Amino acid sequence: MEFLDVIKSRKSVRNYSSEPVPEEILNEILEAGRNAPSYQNRQCWRFVVINEPDRIKEFANNTGLVGKINYFIKDAPLIIVACADPLHSGTMNKQNYYLVDTAIAFQQMMLTAWNYGVGSCWMAGFNEKVVKKHLNLPSRIRVVAFSPFGYPKDRETTYGKFLKVFSGSKARSPLEKLVHYNKWGKKG
Ligand SMILES: Cc1cc2nc3c(=O)[nH]c(=O)nc-3n(C[C@H](O)[C@H](O)[C@H](O)COP(=O)(O)O)c2cc1C
Repeated sequence: MEFLDVIKSRKSVRNYSSEPVPEEILNEILEAGRNAPSYQNRQCWRFVVINEPDRIKEFANNTGLVGKINYFIKDAPLIIVACADPLHSGTMNKQNYYLVDTAIAFQQMMLTAWNYGVGSCWMAGFNEKVVKKHLNLPSRIRVVAFSPFGYPKDRETTYGKFLKVFSGSKARSPLEKLVHYNKWGKKG
C-alpha cells in the first residue's frame, strides 16, 4: 500500500478471524517498533507477545473489571502488550517521555501490521495492576497499552458497531480547527 493509504485506511478492528498472523509478519511488526525514535534513543519499550490461544483467553480474563469492555480480544490470534521501563526514558517539562516513546513505537507497529492487512485496536481500557500481576511484570515496568492483532472478519459485531458509534470513530476534526500558523490564533 502507499504510505498515506495505510494511514488513512487504518481503523480499529474489533472482530477478528482466528487465522494466525504469520511469524514473518509478526517479526516485521516488532521490527517497526524497534526502529522507532525515542528520548535520547533510550528505547524504553518492552513488548509482551501473547500468541497461544489459551494464553490469549487467559489474558482476556485478566484485564480487570474495566477490561470487560474489550473482551472481544479473546478471539484474536495475537495480542501485544506495549510496556515501558521508565528508567530507560526521561522527563522534560514535567512530561514523562516513556509514554511518548512507547506510543510512537506501538503506532508504528500498528501501521506496519495494517500494511499487511493485519488489524489492531489500541486499548486503554484495562486495570494496570491486574495486568501486571497476570504477566509477572517487574514493579517498575508500566503497561502503556495493548492491542489485539489479526485479520478482520468480514462482518463487524453489533458490539463493535456500538463501540464505533460510541467513540465517534469516523469523525476527524477539520485542519482549520487543529492548525495555527506562526502563532496561536493565526489561521491560514
Ligand atoms: C489512547 C487510546 C485508548 C483507546 N482505548 C480503547 C479501548 O479501550 N477500547 C476500544 O475498543 N478502543 C479503544 N481505542 C480506540 C479508539 O476508540 C479509536 O482509535 C477511535 O475511536 C478512532 O477510531 P479508529 O481507530 O477506527 O480510527 C483507544 C484509542 C486510543 C488512541
